[in-house]
Amino acid sequence: MIDTHCHISIEDYDDIDLVIKEALESGISKIIISGCTKESIVESLKISSNYSCIYVTIGYHPSEADLITTDDLLLLEKQIQSFPIVGIGEIGLDYHYGKENINKQKNLFRKQLELAEKYHLPVVIHSRDATEDTISILKEFPNVKGDIHCFSGSKETAKIYISMGYMIGIGGVVTFKNSNLYKVVEEIGIHSILLETDAPYLTPSPYRGTINSSKYIPLIAEKIADILNISIQEVSDITTENATRLFDLK
Ligand code: NI
Repeated sequence: MIDTHCHISIEDYDDIDLVIKEALESGISKIIISGCTKESIVESLKISSNYSCIYVTIGYHPSEADLITTDDLLLLEKQIQSFPIVGIGEIGLDYHYGKENINKQKNLFRKQLELAEKYHLPVVIHSRDATEDTISILKEFPNVKGDIHCFSGSKETAKIYISMGYMIGIGGVVTFKNSNLYKVVEEIGIHSILLETDAPYLTPSPYRGTINSSKYIPLIAEKIADILNISIQEVSDITTENATRLFDLK
């Protein structure tokens, strides 16, 4: 199984070796980590160069929109050229804490979609309380494909993204008792799903309240198997194929 989206940093984990070892022991073959601030991009590139099972996507998170300069975007492009990254992200729009810098967010999002298009890389999309704008900006880039990471919208929204060529990232939220995400899973089926933890956040049930890590991917797979009434093996095989194809993993 592949954890298609998480964050690994020494800030969150005392022992990164152990985090990766535990993931491999629980049946995870590959982990895609995401560096989405200037600092975490540097750290993520370093971690991925140290482990053959770790792949990396890089891109500035919408929460960085006020900080990122033209020079920072040039630096990102240099990093894209210099390192074997598998995608751009997580990038997108986040209106959860307000819309004061909406234009900066949109500008940063578009600039990074341009890079994805230029370098033929998939994108990992973060969209929070911003579905309409996210869809309309992605439609400006019909050649770009990617992953709607940590999807939490309606089944109708999921189907729109899929019709645009995107995959849907399903994480620990699907295991929460009060979550309606099962309706999305039922509707879209296994061929559009990517497994992800978004660790260190969003730890699946029954471990909510503790730090998340890739070793919990089987809990998410199990829940999806349950919802779709298929075997865990099938969830594992098909989501691995989905991720391998989208991110062109070797
Ligand atoms: Ni994330």
